[in-house]
Amino acid sequence: MKVLIVGSGGREDAIAYKVKQSQLLSKLYCIPGNGGMAKKGEVIEGKISDIPQIAKDLGIDFIIVGPEAPLVEGIVDKCRTYKIPVFGPDSKGAQLEGSKVFAKNFMKRNNIPTADFYVASGYDEAVSYIEKYGLKAIKADGLAGGKGVVIPQDLESARDTLYRFMVEKRLGVSGERVVLEDILVGREISCFIITDGKDYILLPSAQDYKRAYDGNKGPNTGGMGSVAPIAMSEDIQKKIRERIIERTLEGLEREEINYRGVIYFGLMLVDRDPYVLEYNVRLGDPETQAIIPLIEDDLLELFYETTVSRLPKVNIKLKPMYSCCVVLASSGYPEHYEVGKEILGLEEVSECIVFHAGTKLTGDKLYTSGGRVLNIVGIGESIESAREKAYKCVSKVRFENMFYRRDIGEGVKDID
Ligand code: AMP
Ligand code: GLY
Repeated sequence: MKVLIVGSGGREDAIAYKVKQSQLLSKLYCIPGNGGMAKKGEVIEGKISDIPQIAKDLGIDFIIVGPEAPLVEGIVDKCRTYKIPVFGPDSKGAQLEGSKVFAKNFMKRNNIPTADFYVASGYDEAVSYIEKYGLKAIKADGLAGGKGVVIPQDLESARDTLYRFMVEKRLGVSGERVVLEDILVGREISCFIITDGKDYILLPSAQDYKRAYDGNKGPNTGGMGSVAPIAMSEDIQKKIRERIIERTLEGLEREEINYRGVIYFGLMLVDRDPYVLEYNVRLGDPETQAIIPLIEDDLLELFYETTVSRLPKVNIKLKPMYSCCVVLASSGYPEHYEVGKEILGLEEVSECIVFHAGTKLTGDKLYTSGGRVLNIVGIGESIESAREKAYKCVSKVRFENMFYRRDIGEGVKDID
C-alpha cells in the first residue's frame, strides 16, 4: 500500500515511525514532512489544497492526516471525489473541532457533561455578559492554532481579550463569535478513541504539559511534553466511557454524522466527574509521541480498516510500559525564535526514540526549522524510569538556544 502522511510535526513523525513497521506498507510519502520523516519516506512539496491531485498522480492508496486544519477544510470530502480513502472525519464531523459553538451545542443537545456556557456574537454583548456573570473562559469559535482559548485572571484582561478577538479581529473570522464558559478547576487529561462511528478503541490516556516553563508557568504552547498511560480507576474509566465517549458516538449517529477517525477528548476531572473541555478531531501533539511507542498492533491496518470498512477490533494491544516525551524547543517559542541552528549529538542517543518536529535535513546535516524541534521519548517500567531515560537522552542533544522543561513526568499521580 502506498501511504501519504499529511503534516510536519512530532505527531506525524510518530505516525510515520509506526506506519513504517507495517507489513501493508509498500511506500511512504509525506507532505510537507520534516527532517525525521525525510529519512522514513519521500517528502513531497505541495499545498494542502493540491493534495487530492498529488495523491492521484502518485497512485496513493491511503492518506493519513495529522493536523486539524485540512480535516476542517474538507480534505476527506475532496478526496472522496478522487476515490482515495483518507483517515479522519469529513468536514461535517470535523466541526467538533472547527467550531466551538457547534461542539458546545452538540454536547448540550446530547447531554454530555461540559461547563455551562453562553455564545456571544458581538463585543458589547460579551462584555456585558462577563460584567453581569463574572469571569469566564473565553474561547474563539473557529480554529486558532492554540491561541483561541484564554482563561482571564481579571475583568480587565477579559475585556482586552474580547477586544482583540472581536473588534481587532486578531484571529480573523475565528474570533467573531466566542464561547464564554464557566472556569473549571480540576485535573486535566487527554483521552483518544479510534472509531468507525459505532465501535471504538480507547487508546492509552495521556497527560500533556501545555505551559512553556517548569511548574506550569509561562505562556501556553502546543505542548512541551507528555506522559502515558495515566492509570485510572475503573470507576472513572466507566464514567468517561458512558457519559462522554458513548454519548458522543450516539449523538453523532443521531445527528447523521458518519464519523470515522480519531476523537480526542480534552477532559477536566472535577471531583471525580469528567467534563469535556474540548473535542479535537485528530491525535494530540505531543501525546501521540508518548502513546504510539506503547502500541503493539498494526496502526496502519487499524486506520485503513476503520476508514474503508469497520473497526477490526475493540481493544488495542499495548506493551505493559510507560513513556515520557520531552520536547526540545527553540528559545523564545511560542513567540519569536530563531531557526537554522545545527542539531548535534543525536547519534549518541540510543536508549530513547527521537521524533522530529521543526527539523530540516540538508545533505546529511540536520538544522532547526521550527519552535518545537525534537521529541525525546523514554520508555520504562514506570513513569519515573521512562522520565529518567528521557532526560538522560536529552542531555546528549544540543543546538544553539535549545530549551526544554525539566519537570515532565515529575510526580504524576494515578487518577482514582
Ligand atoms: P481547549 O483548547 O478548549 O482545550 O482549551 C485550552 C486549555 O484551556 C485547556 O487545555 C485547559 O487547560 C484550559 N481550559 C479550557 N476550557 C477551560 C475551562 N472551562 N475551565 C478551565 N480551563 C479551561
Ligand atoms: N496537545 C494538545 C493538542 O494536540 O491540541
